[in-house]
Amino acid sequence: MTDEDNVDIFSPEELGKISDVLSVSLVNRETNKRTPYVDIELMRGDITQLEVDVVVNAAHDDLTGGGGVDGAIHKASGQKLLGECLNLYGCPQGEARITGAYNMPSKYIIHTVGPVWTPAGSIKEKKERLRNCYRSCLVMAELQGLKSIAFPCISTGAYCFPKDIAAEVAVETIRDFFNLYVNTYLDLVKIVCFDSQNFEEYKKLLF
Ligand code: APR
Repeated sequence: MTDEDNVDIFSPEELGKISDVLSVSLVNRETNKRTPYVDIELMRGDITQLEVDVVVNAAHDDLTGGGGVDGAIHKASGQKLLGECLNLYGCPQGEARITGAYNMPSKYIIHTVGPVWTPAGSIKEKKERLRNCYRSCLVMAELQGLKSIAFPCISTGAYCFPKDIAAEVAVETIRDFFNLYVNTYLDLVKIVCFDSQNFEEYKKLLF
């Protein structure tokens, strides 16, 4: 599936409404207390335009670019990104690799490879594979001492993960991470949606 097939996708005008950002503090489900200093923002938009420390790419495992958000990131960063990616010799599913962001306003890009949704196989296992992506990216950002990270909706485009399940996994993994590691460098997580269904799924879970 390409973004062109996605009838639900935001129009350029809608994507331009970057002021339409919903913000919430993460709350520990056990203690009901706010996780110190970590805010989560839900927004519609083009992730390549964001001035954050690091933008996450939903990449292919050869890291040579592709369509969707991967294509947009490679286009916005320029040829030097491909050069750096080629030196990494790929990235296994669920892991993360970091590169510079070149012509993009962010400082870095973390590339992760999501699972492909197939009708066969265990849903639990597919969810765990997606969870690994979010976790690896957060760990990588933390190891680099980065403060802000923006995620696209990994695996919900070409890799066909159901958007409601993907949103659930993302929110749960982000929450669990900040509940486990209290003193993080990261203090802002942006979730960037390119279509209204993803936006609505996250809104239900977060607000
Ligand atoms: N900004 C934010 N989100 C975007 C952008 C963008 N500029 N462009 C696309 N998206 C959204 C899609 O609408 C979708 O919700 O990113 C989400 C993930 O979709 P894909 O980019 O198709 O990623 P994924 O499903 O993980 O598939 C990865 O696609 O092109 C290939 O090389 C890529 O093989 C890899 C596969």
